[in-house]
Amino acid sequence: MTVKTKGWPLALLSILLLAACQGDRSNEPLEPAEEWKVQTGADPHSFSEYEKVRVGHLRLDLDADMDAHVLSGHVTLDLERVDPDHPRLVLDTRGLDIRDVTAPESDGNHRPLSWRLGEQEGSLGQPLVILLPDGIDEVRIDYSSSPEAFGLQWLDGEQTSSGKPFMFSQSQPHYARTWVPLQDTPAVRYTFDVTVRVPEDLMAVMGAGGNPVERNASGEYNFHMPQPVPSYLMAIAVGDLRFAEIGERSGVYAEPEWIEAAAEEFDVLEEMIDIGVDLYGEYRWGRYDLLVLPPSFPFGGMENPRLSFVTPTIIAGDGSLLALVAHELAHSWSGNLVTNAAWRDLWLNEGFTVYFESRIMEALYGEEVARQLAVLEWEDLVEELEGTEDGMASLVMDVDERDPEQAFSSVPYSKGRFFLDWIEHRVGRETIDEFLRAYFDHFAFQSISTETFRGYLETNLVSKHDALTMEAVDQWLYEPGLPEFAVAPESDAFERVDDWRKRWLAGDAETGELPADEWSVYQWLHFLIGLEDKLDAERMAELDAAFALTESGNYEILFQWLMRSIETRYEPGIERLEAFLLEVGRNKFTRPLYAALADTDWGREWAIDVYERARPGYHPLTRQAAERALDIDQE
Ligand code: BES
Ligand code: ZN
Repeated sequence: MTVKTKGWPLALLSILLLAACQGDRSNEPLEPAEEWKVQTGADPHSFSEYEKVRVGHLRLDLDADMDAHVLSGHVTLDLERVDPDHPRLVLDTRGLDIRDVTAPESDGNHRPLSWRLGEQEGSLGQPLVILLPDGIDEVRIDYSSSPEAFGLQWLDGEQTSSGKPFMFSQSQPHYARTWVPLQDTPAVRYTFDVTVRVPEDLMAVMGAGGNPVERNASGEYNFHMPQPVPSYLMAIAVGDLRFAEIGERSGVYAEPEWIEAAAEEFDVLEEMIDIGVDLYGEYRWGRYDLLVLPPSFPFGGMENPRLSFVTPTIIAGDGSLLALVAHELAHSWSGNLVTNAAWRDLWLNEGFTVYFESRIMEALYGEEVARQLAVLEWEDLVEELEGTEDGMASLVMDVDERDPEQAFSSVPYSKGRFFLDWIEHRVGRETIDEFLRAYFDHFAFQSISTETFRGYLETNLVSKHDALTMEAVDQWLYEPGLPEFAVAPESDAFERVDDWRKRWLAGDAETGELPADEWSVYQWLHFLIGLEDKLDAERMAELDAAFALTESGNYEILFQWLMRSIETRYEPGIERLEAFLLEVGRNKFTRPLYAALADTDWGREWAIDVYERARPGYHPLTRQAAERALDIDQE
C-alpha cells in the first residue's frame, strides 16, 4: 500500500524498524532489517497482515491469577497461508509479556521460531512479528497479560458485592490484544477453543458455547466457539456467579446479590429472541444469556456472542430500561453476524442495531414507546452534531488516523438508525424487512465495508424503487449532518410534557399538579433533560419533595437529576452524587458528571477528591475518560 501522510500518527503508518527496537526479545541473532518492517494495512488499527496470512482458529489455555491480576498461558493459532510465500505472521499485542514462540510438531516437540516485538504505537500497541518457515501453519505463543491490561478489569474481594474477586474483559474496539496476541481487526473471524483454570470458589464464563450452570469442583472450564467471530467479540469473565434460567435458550448470570432481581427484570428475554427471529431470521448462535457485571462495568452493554455483558444499572425494578437488552440482542444479527471490516464503517454495526432495537421495542411495548425512544435519540443526535467536525459527522467516519474509541459517537448509532428509518419511510416496512433479511443471509459471518453495503443496496433496493436515489443515499453516507429530507420522529406525549414544563417553569402550574404519575420513564427523562440550566436549588427541592428524585432507583432518571443537581449546586443531590460516583463506573454517566463538575467554579477540586477515592474501583476506560474530563495528568 501507499504510505499516507495525513493526520497525527505519521509514525503509525510509517515504517517501523524493528530489529533495532527495545521490545526485541527474540532468541535469534539480528536478521536483515527488511524482514521485520511492519506497517498497518487495510484496517489502519491493526498491524496484522491478514490478507497474506490469516488466523482461522485459535486454542487458548489460560490460568487466571486473581491475586496478581494476570492471565497466563499460551495460545495456539491455526493459520491459513493465503499467500504461501509470505514469510511471516504479524499479530497485534499491547502490554503482553511474550515468553516463547514456537511451532508445534507432530512428535510433540516445539520448534522455536524467530520473532520480534515492534515499537509501541500508542493504543495500537506493538506488532509481534514471527518469521514463518515454509509450510508452517500452526504457531504457539506462551505469554502473560499485564495487571494493567486495558481490556480487563480485576476487582478484589472488597470491591464486589459477593466479597469474592471478579474479572471481566472488554475487547471492543481494540483491546483483545491486551489479553491475547492475535489479529485484532474486525476484518478477520476465527473459531476458538478455550480452557481456563480459576480458583475453585469462582466460576468462569465466556461469550462462547460451554458456559457452566454451576461451579465446577476442579476450577477448570472449557469453551468452544463454533461460529467464526472477530476478535472484538472475545469475552471472558470470572467471579462468584450464579445462573438463573429465563427460557429454553436464555438465562442470566450474576453475583448472588443480583441474581434474583436480574432474573425478574429480564423475564421477557426469551420473547425478545422470538421477536428478533421473526424480524431478521434465524438466531444462529444457540443460546442467548446475559451476564450482569459489577457496577464498574464501563458500558451499558456489550454484545458478546451468546452472552451479552450488561451493567446492573439497567435493573430498575420495572423493566423500563430494557431497550439496552434489545440492543445487545439485536447485535446477534447486526454486528455479530455481519460486521464492519474497519472501525470507520461502525455504523453498519451500531446503526443497524439501534434500528433493530427500536423494532424489537415496538413489537414488545407498542408504537408509542418506540416513538418516545426515537425522539430522545433524535434530540441527542442533533445536539451532538452541533459540536462535531465534518469528517466525524458522516456515516463513514474519518477515524483511520484516530483512536478507534472515537468512532463510538451518536453518528454511527443514531444517524445510522435514522438512515434506515428514512429507507423504511420511503419503501415501506415490508420491503425494508425483506431486504434486511436477505442482506443478513447474504453476508452472514462476513466483515464488510460501507462500499460493499452500498453496492448491495443499489442492486437490491435502490434500482427497484423510485422513492430512493443513490444521490440521497450518498448524502447519508458521505456528507456531514442530517439531510434535510431525514424524517424527524414526533411524540404527542412529549409535547404534553413540554407544555407542563413550560407552565411549571412560568409559575402557572404547581408542582403537585404535574401529572407525573402517568408519565413513562422516557417522559420523565424528556422532562428532566428539558430543565437543563433552567432551575435553582429551591425549585430542585420542590421537585424532590414531590417526587423523591434523589432517591430514584432508576439510574437514567437519577443521572439526569444529578446533572441538574450539579448545575444548581443542590446539596442533597451532590451528596447522592458522591455515593453514585463511588459505586458506578459506567462511562455514559461518569464522564458527563465529572465534566460538568469540572465546569463549575466550585466542583473541580471536590470531583478530583471523589475521583481519587473512586479510582481503584474504576475500569481503565472509566479512569481514562474521567481523567480527561477533569483535566488531570494521565499516567
Ligand atoms: N458495542 C457497544 C458497546 C461499546 C461501546 C463498546 C463503545 C466499545 C465502545 C454496545 O452494543 C452498545 O452500544 N452499548 C450501549 C448501549 C446501547 C443501548 C446504545 C452502551 O453501553 O451504552
Ligand atoms: Zn451496540
